[in-house]
Amino acid sequence: MGRRFAEISFTDSVKAAQIRYGTRKANEGFESAPDRRDALTEREIHFIAERDSFYMASHGIGADGLAGWPYVQHRGGYAGFLRVLHARRLAFADYRGNRQYISTGNVMGDDRVSLFLMDYPKRQRLKIWARATVVNFADDPDLLASLENPDYKARIERAFVLDVEAVDWNCPQHITPRFSEFEVRAMIAPLHAEIEQLKAQLTMQQADSSGA
Ligand SMILES: Cc1cc2nc3c(=O)[nH]c(=O)nc-3n(C[C@H](O)[C@H](O)[C@H](O)COP(=O)(O)O)c2cc1C
Repeated sequence: MGRRFAEISFTDSVKAAQIRYGTRKANEGFESAPDRRDALTEREIHFIAERDSFYMASHGIGADGLAGWPYVQHRGGYAGFLRVLHARRLAFADYRGNRQYISTGNVMGDDRVSLFLMDYPKRQRLKIWARATVVNFADDPDLLASLENPDYKARIERAFVLDVEAVDWNCPQHITPRFSEFEVRAMIAPLHAEIEQLKAQLTMQQADSSGA
């Protein structure tokens, strides 16, 4: 028993690549590490609560020759819209979009998904492997109601419940810091305050000099 993500991701093909490129021994360390990382800790819960978006990968299923194609979609909402229900379960509202229902259809056939969560300013990223269930209003109205946010204008069509299988953090390498409009506004607020103060001083000085 080791890291859950390694059990899931280190397929024979991946192990062959690790052998080919000389990292198999090093990667065996993940397979025997005592820390399973198969549930959310305080660190992940805090990180998830601050996120207003993430990416979710699923894959096509069926017998039409298209099965297996990976599919990634962006999910966005208010900060914390990806809700932690407990250390092994997450949920988010599926807002009305282009009504192609690709992720929905995919997970109805194969529940395995991968999530990628980014904090660009802090250059942190979190990977989550999970099993997804599509939850309609009739299935669990209380859950759907709990995911609503009156301040966030979006129409909820259904929810996704995600049962966490594994979590792992990535290093900050190659992440360019980026800032949302909200973050930029907070950063420049002191500058705005200073400009207003200087403007007021200037107005007073002009009034003094014209009165003199
Ligand atoms: C009017 C409208 C048009 C959209 N068009 C696209 C689109 O062309 N491509 C896309 O990836 N997302 C589009 N979106 C966003 C997606 O519909 C939304 O992210 C949804 O979750 C898609 O899920 P799915 O890709 O799993 O079907 C659109 C949203 C709206 C409201």
